[in-house]
This record gives sequence, structure tokens and C-alpha cells, in this order.
Amino acid sequence: MCEVTIILSEREDTEKLGYALAEAAEPGDFYALQGEMGVGKTTLACAMAEALGVEDASSPTYALVHEYAGRVLMFHLDAWRLTGPEELEELDFAALLHRNGVVVLEWPEYVEAALPADRLSIEFSLDVERGLRTATLKAAGERYVQRLSKIQEVYTG
Ligand SMILES: Nc1ncnc2c1ncn2[C@@H]1O[C@H](COP(=O)(O)OP(=O)(O)OP(=O)(O)O)[C@@H](O)[C@H]1O
Ligand SMILES: [Mg+2]
Repeated sequence: MCEVTIILSEREDTEKLGYALAEAAEPGDFYALQGEMGVGKTTLACAMAEALGVEDASSPTYALVHEYAGRVLMFHLDAWRLTGPEELEELDFAALLHRNGVVVLEWPEYVEAALPADRLSIEFSLDVERGLRTATLKAAGERYVQRLSKIQEVYTG
């Protein structure tokens, strides 16, 4: 089991997924949030931060790295405004990955070359005609296969 798709009918479902991700998360984890504008990436990241014990988690659109201190540290990044992987490297992303926090990044496709291959990818999609939102979780690397089975338990009970 390396891939799971979850239906996100309303905002609360996206938040629930964020809480489930946070519960399974361990220091050093990397989460890549993919999907078009407005699919719910920031909503998910803020729910994760909240579940990790952060009181006020707001959108990181205008700051490149938001650092949240909760049960574990969380770093929330939005690569939307970056020109490419070099710019992420200039932000010392490699060092961030070694700070024993949970790293959550929106728009990984803009900076792919600077990212670790091992990750949990959350790929959002929105079918406008059918009004159907989903997130597909894909685990790359053994530790994320473990996270994924833990996340799945939240849904299967
Ligand atoms: N499952 C859902 N159903 C309906 N609306 C949702 C759902 N999840 C999030 N939303 C809403 O969609 C809007 C956009 O969400 P959000 O800002 O999280 O998207 P985003 O993917 O981060 O966008 P961007 O790429 O512009 O940063 C928000 O108003 C949020 O409340
Ligand atoms: Mg966003």
C-alpha cells in the first residue's frame, strides 16, 4: 500500500486530512503539497500546524518560510514565488531538512531539483464540472509507507 485517495467534499475534510497527517508526522519528515491554485494546499498545511499545537497558523504566501513551534517544529514553505531550485537552495533548504522539524512545501514542481526524493506527496485535484475534490497520498521511501498506513487508520477506524 503506497497510494491512497481521499475525497475532500468540504473544507472540513481537508482539515481532517491535515490533522491525520500531523498525528502521523515525525521530526525530519518532508511533505510535498501539489495541485492547482485554490485546491486546499494552504488549508491542509495550516490544519497540520494547528494539530501540532500551533495557535495561529496563517498563509505563507508572502513569507517564504513560516516556522511554527508546536509538538514538533514545522516549516511551511510556498515555492510559488520562487524562480527555481537555486532560490530554494539559497534559502538553505538543506539545513532546514536537518532541523528535526516537519517540512511542508507547496508547489514542489517549481523547485523539484532541490527536494529530497523520499517524501509523502499529497496531490490535490479538483474536477470543477463534477465539483469533486480529492487528494492522492503517495509514499516514496519506507518511512512514508509507514506514515501512510498510520494515516489510513484514521479513515478505516
Ligand atoms: N475540501 C474543500 N472543499 C471546498 N473548499 C475547500 C476545501 N478545501 C479548501 N477549501 C477552500 O478553498 C480555498 C482555497 O484554499 P487554499 O488557500 O488552501 O488553496 P491553495 O491550494 O493553498 O491555493 P494557492 O495555490 O493559491 O496557494 C479556501 O477558501 C478554502 O477554504
Ligand atoms: Mg496556498
